[in-house]
Amino acid sequence: MKKVFIVANIKSYETENEAKKWLDVFKNVKNLNDDLSQKEIIICPPFTLLELFKEYLQKNGIRVFLGAQDLSQFDQGAYTGEINARQIRDFAKYVLIGHSERRKNFNETKNVLLNKVKLALAYGIKPIYIIQNDTEEIPEGVEIIAYEPVFAIGSGKPDNPENAEKVASSVKSKNNGYNILYGGSVNSTNVQSFTKKSYINGVLVGGASLDPEEFINIIKNA
Ligand code: PGA
Repeated sequence: MKKVFIVANIKSYETENEAKKWLDVFKNVKNLNDDLSQKEIIICPPFTLLELFKEYLQKNGIRVFLGAQDLSQFDQGAYTGEINARQIRDFAKYVLIGHSERRKNFNETKNVLLNKVKLALAYGIKPIYIIQNDTEEIPEGVEIIAYEPVFAIGSGKPDNPENAEKVASSVKSKNNGYNILYGGSVNSTNVQSFTKKSYINGVLVGGASLDPEEFINIIKNA
């Protein structure tokens, strides 16, 4: 049985109170009869909520890992406003790097992404590197890649699972050790059409993860 990654990208949503409500519903994930040992569940909250999530999940014995949505391209230093890999590793096992929203809105270039990957790896954080097509270069050391076509993000129009599988197989042909996730309008109804494909190792979920019940259903159906 292959291991399936299910990643929630909360994006720039949720206050502390909203996150507490989300977690109080999400804790029912423990009642899933499924064997969760083959499912790596990763939640990527905003930085301000990482500590809250960490404590809540530990206290309630919920086997879920945390990811950061970003990290500084610089190591610690005089970089006002930045949050660096050394700080993030106290909370998160994973970090998203290369999301199209960051490439577009924050002008993250290939070099910036490369610096981020290097720093994440240097501090023992696993990058989840997001690409938009199979021709993109993958930085050394990356093991988890998410294919997210821009048209599918937040549009309610996911890519065709056959096409996602083709991209996944093409990326994997470069390195069989890669884990390839699909992202873009994944929900509890369509998740299985992606995770049952042989080259796809999981999903990256945005909008649908804001509803904790729906996220539990995605985990269940994945
Ligand atoms: P979506 O977002 O699930 O809302 O399409 C996915 C993402 O941007 O990671």
